[in-house]
Amino acid sequence: MEPKSRIAELVAQLNEHCYRYYVLSQPSISDAEYDRLYRELERLEQAYPQYVPDDSPTKRVGAMPSTEFRTVRHRIPMLSLQNAMNEEELRDFNAQVERGLERKGEAIEYTVEHKFDGVAVSLAYEHGHLVLGVTRGDGYNGEDITQNIRTIRAIPLALRGQAPLLLEVRGEVMFRVSDFEKLNRERVAAGEEAFANPRNAASGSLRQLDPSITSKRPLTFFAYGIGAVEGLRLPDNHFDCMKLVSRFGFPISPSLTVCKGVEEVVQAYHRHESARSTLPFEVDGMVVKVNHLAMQEQLGFRQRSPRWAIAAKFEAIEATTTLLDIEVQVGRTGALTPVAHLSPVQIGGVTVSRATLHNEDEIRRKDIRIGDTVTVTRQGDVIPGVVAVMTHLRDGSEKIFHFPTHCPECGSAVVRNVDEAAYRCPNSRCPARIEQRILHFASRGGMDIEGLGDKLVALLLEHKVIQDIPALYHLEAEALEALPRMGKLSAHNLLESIDRSKQPSLDRFLYALGIRHVGERTALILARHCRTLEHFMRLSESELLGIAEIGPETAAAIMDFLANPAEVRMVQELVSAGIRVQPVHAPQTGGLTGKTFVLTGGLATMSRQEAERLIDERGGKTSSSVSKKTSYVVVGAEPGTKLAKAQELGITILSEEQFRELLGV
Ligand code: IVH
Repeated sequence: MEPKSRIAELVAQLNEHCYRYYVLSQPSISDAEYDRLYRELERLEQAYPQYVPDDSPTKRVGAMPSTEFRTVRHRIPMLSLQNAMNEEELRDFNAQVERGLERKGEAIEYTVEHKFDGVAVSLAYEHGHLVLGVTRGDGYNGEDITQNIRTIRAIPLALRGQAPLLLEVRGEVMFRVSDFEKLNRERVAAGEEAFANPRNAASGSLRQLDPSITSKRPLTFFAYGIGAVEGLRLPDNHFDCMKLVSRFGFPISPSLTVCKGVEEVVQAYHRHESARSTLPFEVDGMVVKVNHLAMQEQLGFRQRSPRWAIAAKFEAIEATTTLLDIEVQVGRTGALTPVAHLSPVQIGGVTVSRATLHNEDEIRRKDIRIGDTVTVTRQGDVIPGVVAVMTHLRDGSEKIFHFPTHCPECGSAVVRNVDEAAYRCPNSRCPARIEQRILHFASRGGMDIEGLGDKLVALLLEHKVIQDIPALYHLEAEALEALPRMGKLSAHNLLESIDRSKQPSLDRFLYALGIRHVGERTALILARHCRTLEHFMRLSESELLGIAEIGPETAAAIMDFLANPAEVRMVQELVSAGIRVQPVHAPQTGGLTGKTFVLTGGLATMSRQEAERLIDERGGKTSSSVSKKTSYVVVGAEPGTKLAKAQELGITILSEEQFRELLGV
């Protein structure tokens, strides 16, 4: 094939894969295959630079750093929204709309979608090509951040399908919570300041003058509206406009629904508020919009906001309280983590009395002192964190915290590696470390020993019934029954669940061992490669580094483990105690290849991780949001809004029982 056509073909293929990966979350090729195509394109483009199109994936990054951002005037201003803080204010909004439209008591059609907590941008496409990305700025003038926008993989460089002369898509650039946390962990480890929240991180990342920095930040995008258009007839309502935007290749709010009348809106608002913590990204409310554009026009605007839309905010997830004390906890790998004890405070319906302070540098940087008044946030299931100190409220009685030089549990002198932010207790026999290791070993993702929680582990250690992990498998009923608060039945139940844990799959066993950097995913990769425990114990560093997805840091941690006589002895003791590790087979292809599952609600007979693993092993994929491409939605107890979405799209819904049948388990 001619180089020119091959380049065009590769660009089209790679952009399609990028769309499937970042917008649909349904990749159809492996990362390795993507890389192979990408490298082929890079080689060809180097040889034939005259044929490189503007929307080539290689051209997402590559622009030179600039010295400042140019100011651009918005063709149509980017206005803000009025807020409704509760249900009552939402009803007031509806009353105003009914009045404005002279349709008192009629069920007005609204759309409800997430209010994304990121940075608003407007993206202009001319003849289908991204030509301009601008921040909201003051609503009338924003900054030209096109080069940074181009690095965001969820934003198409070229529109899909037939393109109009001009289309402006508006939406929010943001981080998924998991990507944000990973970014912060990396920053703290590199000695940089952690971002206070995903919104600040998104804003900071977009304001980089060097696009190569932005490109390293895993930003994403959700569209919520259309600005200027030319050469395109828009549908007559917002819902269909957003479907159109989605067909052009953009992610839109997965919750976008039409509600008839304010009662349905109120219900949707409450439903979304309770599902808030299950979302992979942060939202601070729902945006309610009059669906029909003709009605929007009739209602018009106030000074800075439309009369046809409102932001129905959720309760704040930030609160102010007093920091009573700082305690240093020792983790299973010996890392010392400072934890703030707070005067209990309600945040988003949950009482918070502790918050992580990450490490010593974090305490210094934020100048956190004992006795300070601090603001604390909580995001979903994430451990609460201290955002800032209100220094103006100090009265001089606050105490500066000095990080301990010795482990608070065993007294060993603590160490700090040059490239690490954390201090560690180096003593592998430290009681705190042993306690954490046992808890990790017994946890759900590990050996899943039901009933062996923190209180019981502490009790067993305190009474010297066990000293280490293998001792769990030599426990006897009499010794257990003699413990305080332990009856015959609880002792019996514990022994039963320990017994049930004796045949773990290799991946669970490897995870349970608590090797640094080996989480559930890495454990599965290792297990698939090694198949048997014997093979794992014989791994060499070069073999490890040959496994795709295992980086040098993880490889080094595994080698440390395998070279440590105490660790090897522990594995041997577990095997002698009757643990029979089950070999793991390579993914069973065939079964569910090409099928995408969405799980919603709690399953009674397995954890979510387990369900995902079973799907994965059969060649299927799990996605977090329902779309037309979803094959099955598995519905557990108290399903979220995904069920409604699936019904709306006519996707096959499976009960837990039907799901197990399909998996053959
Ligand atoms: S519509 C004319 N929809 O909230 C009104 N805005 O306070 C246009 N936002 O600047 C806004 N999610 O950045 C709309 N689903 C959503 C949104 C959303 C977040 C932001 C937007 C705007 C701010 C308004």
